[in-house]
Amino acid sequence: MKIFLFTLTLGILGMSPSLSHDTHAAEPSITKALFGKTADGAAVDLYTLVNARGMKATITNFGGIVVSLWVPDRDGKEADVVLGFDKLDGYLGKHPYFGALVGRYGNRIAEGQFELDGKTYKLAQNNDGNHLHGGLKGFDKQLWAASSSMTGDGPQLVLSYLSSDGEEGYPGSLSVQVTYTLTEENALKIHYHATTDKPTPVNLTNHSYFNLAGQGEGDILGHQVELFADRFTPVDQGLIPTGELRSVAGTPMDFRQPAAIGARVDQDDEQLVLGKGYDHNFVLKKTKPGALELAARVYEPTHGRVLEVLTTEPGVQFYVGNFLDGTNIGKGNRVYQHRYGFCLETQHFPNSPNLLQFPSTILRPGESYDTTTVYRFSTR
Ligand code: BGC
Repeated sequence: MKIFLFTLTLGILGMSPSLSHDTHAAEPSITKALFGKTADGAAVDLYTLVNARGMKATITNFGGIVVSLWVPDRDGKEADVVLGFDKLDGYLGKHPYFGALVGRYGNRIAEGQFELDGKTYKLAQNNDGNHLHGGLKGFDKQLWAASSSMTGDGPQLVLSYLSSDGEEGYPGSLSVQVTYTLTEENALKIHYHATTDKPTPVNLTNHSYFNLAGQGEGDILGHQVELFADRFTPVDQGLIPTGELRSVAGTPMDFRQPAAIGARVDQDDEQLVLGKGYDHNFVLKKTKPGALELAARVYEPTHGRVLEVLTTEPGVQFYVGNFLDGTNIGKGNRVYQHRYGFCLETQHFPNSPNLLQFPSTILRPGESYDTTTVYRFSTR
């Protein structure tokens, strides 16, 4: 707001503001428009969040999906840096979780089964016999209730969903609230909150695919990635962690110094072969559990955009679009080919309900699930 008034005042005085990012200064706002209808005829909305620096996000209450994120490059030129579809129809069809809120359990649970308090629960098996991203109809395919407001932090969208007892095989009704805020520091902040009436695993995340050169503008192999992790969770052929926390030292998983995604992704390394590239959970370095700290930094050299990911979560799934194969036609008719996007899915470790040495993902009645992840943009 202050920057807007400052820019406006300078504009009236015939002066141009010196900060290049303020050339797109705007009145912060949140507006809503009809995005389409579900197969059952339910109306779906698209919310547009704009911050005072002109950064824009559009988010729909179908699946809580981040549809677009318009971010300036080093010359102040904006591009949409997330993969997705122009229309709701694209999201109603089959797609690999573009931009979606994922739950009740993001990532895999082996054989779609776990034991909790002496009872075995069977979940939907939707990924080669395993359970992935909440099952056949996960949170990414649900219509969320929405309310929007302007806050001191920026435009804010609160999405709520009540997941019923037994949904996709999970115990307990889980009440979920996800709050998206577009802050003044060009960050999309996501807060996840949940409570339950029976013990249940919970692991919520967002599945945005980024391309910092702009969606559909080629592959992401030239992006330089830094991961704040000394260890990762090696996987078996079903991409289920073995339970080991393995050092990244001396392996292609070492992103403690920035490295291009493409530099080692096709190396003949056991883990890269199993993942068909990077598709692994990294164990984040934390000063203390639950602290909101840097998980990753990604730099795209041709346009200069930088994405920093901060999270309270202990892990992040680094996935580089190994399964993208050109079958998804995205925004502006862009064809999403192999490795056209990467994901940084902040999370607890995969298969935690069965690997009790991992930090617990079990939420119990009376407890509150609260995690925060920030996707922050700048330029270099
Ligand atoms: C998984 C990938 C999967 C992708 C889309 C990622 O979180 O780790 O293996 O292909 O989601 O479903």
